[in-house]
Amino acid sequence: MAIRTVYLLVALVFATPVFAETIAVIGTGNVGSALGTELASQGHTIIYGSRSPLGLKALDVAKKTQGNATTSTPREAAADAAIVVLAVPGMVVEDVVRGLGDLSGKLIIDATNPLIVEEPLAFTFGVETSNGEIVQAAAPGARVVKAFNTITWQSMIDPEIANGPLYVPIVRNDPQAKELVAGFVKAMGLIPINLGPIEVAHWTEYAAVVQLNNQFSGRVNYDLVFRARD
Ligand SMILES: NC(=O)c1ccc[n+]([C@@H]2O[C@H](COP(=O)([O-])OP(=O)(O)OC[C@H]3O[C@@H](n4cnc5c(N)ncnc54)[C@H](OP(=O)(O)O)[C@@H]3O)[C@@H](O)[C@H]2O)c1
Repeated sequence: MAIRTVYLLVALVFATPVFAETIAVIGTGNVGSALGTELASQGHTIIYGSRSPLGLKALDVAKKTQGNATTSTPREAAADAAIVVLAVPGMVVEDVVRGLGDLSGKLIIDATNPLIVEEPLAFTFGVETSNGEIVQAAAPGARVVKAFNTITWQSMIDPEIANGPLYVPIVRNDPQAKELVAGFVKAMGLIPINLGPIEVAHWTEYAAVVQLNNQFSGRVNYDLVFRARD
């Protein structure tokens, strides 16, 4: 039996049961489409929030997503959803969140990393705190959970390409929100690990700086992954 099948069976057995939710996925790039399609396959209804909701790219992503996924402006998508996934470039996330309107009571899943790309090609950490904290400050009434930012979008769709169990650190203040996101993670065949409150979000976000600088340095390309020790 393929490893992915085993992971998925284990995930199905241990996954926290979740209700079908309406989820706004903000951004229709690599991560937005990966998380949108995966969450739709778990039975959730996806509204993609795009700057060009009637553009070919957004419509194509929605078409490839199960369950009659739709597209809308980011603000409208967020207004119609209980859960908002942030899958936009990390350095614009604060502006994007402020543009979404009142997010009080909603669960925000922040998958972004605050990366600045410099010439010659190098990646630096672009904020003083972390995107997790910046998002929480921009939406104080929301429950922010940092997740999925340490794994590639390809691994979100197919965890088996990681050649081993793939752990997803979850950073959050609200324990209930963490449980809900952990359920999504498990149902994707991934393993959630609880890393602590939102103040430690930079621990996970900095991983992208290390991984990308290594990837584009001409050295061997490594994934930087979290893994449990015995
Ligand atoms: N690539 C990965 O494997 C990976 C893995 C983990 C985390 N991340 C993080 O996830 C986030 C998204 O990464 P990605 O690879 O999905 O990026 P991407 O392919 O460039 O997609 C980002 C999307 O965000 C939307 N967007 C909103 N405001 C934007 C703006 N001002 N400029 C450009 N796009 C804007 C766009 O969708 P619309 O045109 O529809 O608005 C765009 O398609 C980043 O913060 C990244 O660090 C990436």
